Amino acid sequence: MDSALEYWTAKALLDWQIEMGVDEAIQDEPINRYDLADKAPQAAATRQGPATCNAGTAPAAPPAAPGPGDAIAAARQAAGAAQDLDGLRAAIAAYEHCDLRAGARNLVFADGIAGAPVMILGEAPGRDEDREGRPFVGRAGQLLDKMLAAIDMGRDRPEAPVYISNVLPWRPPQNRTPEKAEIAMMLPFVERHVRLAAPKVLILMGNTPCQALLGRSGITRMRGHWTQALDLPVLPMFHPAYLLRTPTAKREAWADLLALKAKLKELA
Ligand code: URA
Repeated sequence: MDSALEYWTAKALLDWQIEMGVDEAIQDEPINRYDLADKAPQAAATRQGPATCNAGTAPAAPPAAPGPGDAIAAARQAAGAAQDLDGLRAAIAAYEHCDLRAGARNLVFADGIAGAPVMILGEAPGRDEDREGRPFVGRAGQLLDKMLAAIDMGRDRPEAPVYISNVLPWRPPQNRTPEKAEIAMMLPFVERHVRLAAPKVLILMGNTPCQALLGRSGITRMRGHWTQALDLPVLPMFHPAYLLRTPTAKREAWADLLALKAKLKELA
C-alpha cells in the first residue's frame, strides 16, 4: 500500500465486504501449492500429524516436529498448571499446537457465570461467536437463551445462572465439524475447564461434546438419558442449531430441559 488514500479505500472495501457477510479471503487466481513445495521444503518435511492440528509450529526447527501425542501431552501439562479460569484462558491462548487458532479472529472461552450449577458445552464457535469472542451468540445461541429462559435460567441471571463453553475455543474454517485430532488436543483444556468451573451438572449439546467427554456419539439415542463424566451428572441434549433445522425435535428438548430442572431440584 503506497498511500494513505489507498489504505483507507482498501479498508472501506474490506469493511463493506464484511458487512455483506464475506468471511473468507480468497484470491482471484488459485495457487498450486505443490509448485511452491521447493520454496518451503522444511515446512513440508517436518509437518506431521493431522491436517489441521500440528504439534510444532517452527517449520525450520530440526529435527522433525513432535507428533500429535506430544501436542496432547503439552495440552495436559498447560491445562494442569492452570489454577483458575483466568489462568486456563491464558494457557489456551498460549497453546500453539492447534492450527485453528491461526484462522480464528478470537479465542472463545466461555460466557455466563462461573461457578453456576449448570455448565453447557457446545461444539465450537461459529462466525458470530468468532467475531464477538463469546460462545452461543448467533442464531443457535439466541435459541439456547430462549430455551434457558423457559426454565427460568440464563447466562446473565445471577439467581439461576448457567456457564457456557465449547469443546473447541476456535472457529473451524467454514464451520466444518471438528476433527478427532482437534478434539483430542483440546480435551485436556475442556476437562480442566469443567473442574475449575465446578458445576453440579453438565449439559452436552450435540454429538461433538458427547464424543469428547463420553467417547461416543448418537445424540438421538443419547439425549435425555443422564449419564456420568468427570464425576458429574451429564445430560446429552440436542444442539440448538439442530433444533433450528428440525423444529419438531423441540418437544424432546423441552422434556430434557424439564429433566434438568428436576435434577437441580434433586441436587439442591
Ligand atoms: N454452536 C456451538 O456449538 N457453539 C457456539 O458457540 C455456537 C454455535
